[in-house]
Amino acid sequence: MYMLKSQLLAIFPLISSLCKTSTAIITTIITTTQIQSSGSAIPISRGIGALSIEFCYILDYLGDVDSPNTFSRQLLQNIEDRLGAPPIIRIGGHTQDVARYCENCTSTLANVFVPGNDEAVNVTFGKGLFKVLNNNVPSKQQFIFGLNLGQDDVQFPLAEVVAAEKYLESKRLRSFELGNEPDFYNVQRPDGWNVQIYAQQVIDWIFQIQSDAKTPLSLQLGALAQEPIYMGNFSLVELGEIRVAATLGVVTSLSDHTYPFSICDCR
Ligand SMILES: *[C@@H]1O[C@H](CO)[C@@H](O)[C@H](O)[C@H]1NC(C)=O
Ligand SMILES: *[C@@H]1O[C@H](CO)[C@@H](O)[C@H](O)[C@H]1NC(C)=O
Ligand SMILES: *[C@@H]1O[C@H](CO)[C@@H](O)[C@H](O)[C@H]1NC(C)=O
Repeated sequence: MYMLKSQLLAIFPLISSLCKTSTAIITTIITTTQIQSSGSAIPISRGIGALSIEFCYILDYLGDVDSPNTFSRQLLQNIEDRLGAPPIIRIGGHTQDVARYCENCTSTLANVFVPGNDEAVNVTFGKGLFKVLNNNVPSKQQFIFGLNLGQDDVQFPLAEVVAAEKYLESKRLRSFELGNEPDFYNVQRPDGWNVQIYAQQVIDWIFQIQSDAKTPLSLQLGALAQEPIYMGNFSLVELGEIRVAATLGVVTSLSDHTYPFSICDCR
């Protein structure tokens, strides 16, 4: 009993400390194929607990090449020992949308900060990051890898996917996710940005990336955060109406973010 208690206690500080610095707590909705229209009960997936870590801070949690953060690894290992697998970690958030892969850079990950902003404004990473994801985690750890959609150049996510195929062990990859909270892109995209333009861009880019990739992609779609009416009806329902997942055929999960008080606020 004592062991059980101490293992559980070890879990909570990790989750609460991760929550403080991550942009969003992710809700991964199990793929639509698992939703039964008959209404019969579906066991809750053991993967329901997952973590989201802001891209620019991933080394703070996992350590660097050949110097793992053994504290985090042990906490994740404790969960793997209890549940059979550690919580999936999504590397993403605002800074996935400013992250670029650099084939010949020697630093694992380099952040550029500006005063008054605790999230990096530019992030550059080299192949070392994939070594960290391969080696600094428990045996069954998986990641959702956030790709750069924000900077509006398909070459950025393309380079990230090609590098991941080369350097990230396939067992580590649960899926890619293209862009963080695109329903907030009215600041980084021309006027008129809306769900239709977003949907078309995702379809075009994923087809283009898929044609350069060696293996079939697995994609988490969405990462929406706002109320649907905020910017032209962004919602998972609308993405379903536009048939994004059906057209792509590689979407394995849908994602929507929420924050304390962002839904249940008083009006
Ligand atoms: C990286 O370095 C190799 C070997 O020097 C070179 O052939 C290659 O073009 C470089 N890649 C980039 C993207 O600069
Ligand atoms: C971040 O990267 C962009 C694009 O390369 C560049 O224009 C900008 O100056 C960079 N910002 C900082 C603070 O280095
Ligand atoms: C928003 O999208 C939903 C789902 O497609 C649709 O039912 C609704 O009518 C749309 N609302 C507006 C204001 O366009």
